Amino acid sequence: MILDALKDAQDKHILDAGCGDGFFTNTLTKLGADVCGCDGSKKFIDIAKKEFCNVDFKVCDLTKELLYEDNSFDIVVCSLTLMDIDNIDIFLKESARVLKKDGKLVFTMVHPCFFQAEWETNDDGKKLYKKVYNYYEQNTEILNIWGYTTHYHRPISWYAKALKNSGFVIECISENPDNLENFVPIKPHQKKIPLFICFSCISR
Ligand SMILES: C[S@@+](CC[C@H](N)C(=O)[O-])C[C@H]1O[C@@H](n2cnc3c(N)ncnc32)[C@H](O)[C@@H]1O
Repeated sequence: MILDALKDAQDKHILDAGCGDGFFTNTLTKLGADVCGCDGSKKFIDIAKKEFCNVDFKVCDLTKELLYEDNSFDIVVCSLTLMDIDNIDIFLKESARVLKKDGKLVFTMVHPCFFQAEWETNDDGKKLYKKVYNYYEQNTEILNIWGYTTHYHRPISWYAKALKNSGFVIECISENPDNLENFVPIKPHQKKIPLFICFSCISR
């Protein structure tokens, strides 16, 4: 899904914002891109620097000014991070600032429609569908996945409005799980409902 939106990554100057341990940043370098990575966690950035020493990594809080020059990137990528950030307006405005004109912001998130809904199962425990409720209600949830994270649930239209207010035009939204399989094993029931969503937006 995210790789489809980054088909043109070769030779592009890309910022991987919220890069974590740099695994995806390194995938982008393998596609031939010139990539910088930044993350709020010094621990992750130390791991990334050690593992991928040919990439420029920085500690940077995405709720503050990005530590990069104006008009310096062709693409800003933000994978599975924006739903963990309370106020994304600064990040969107800062992305628009560091992007060249007509530059691209590509971000993925857990899918806001389905993430908080539980799977309904049959008597054998087979996962059938998800029951969605309270979709319009913004809420926060503390998750313990690889450590504690605050998850901010916001409807898709909320993101569309925030993007518009920061001067972005949505070029494409993808919910296709196909090339997620490059990263994580996907079970058959997980292919019936989009678990992730990818936005590709142009900075005007
Ligand atoms: C789920 S991980 C995704 C990491 C990586 N992008 C990936 O796809 O594997 C979310 C990342 O967001 C980072 N993060 C959360 N809040 C942040 C903030 N305010 N500023 C910078 N990074 C932040 C976390 O440190 C973590 O590395």
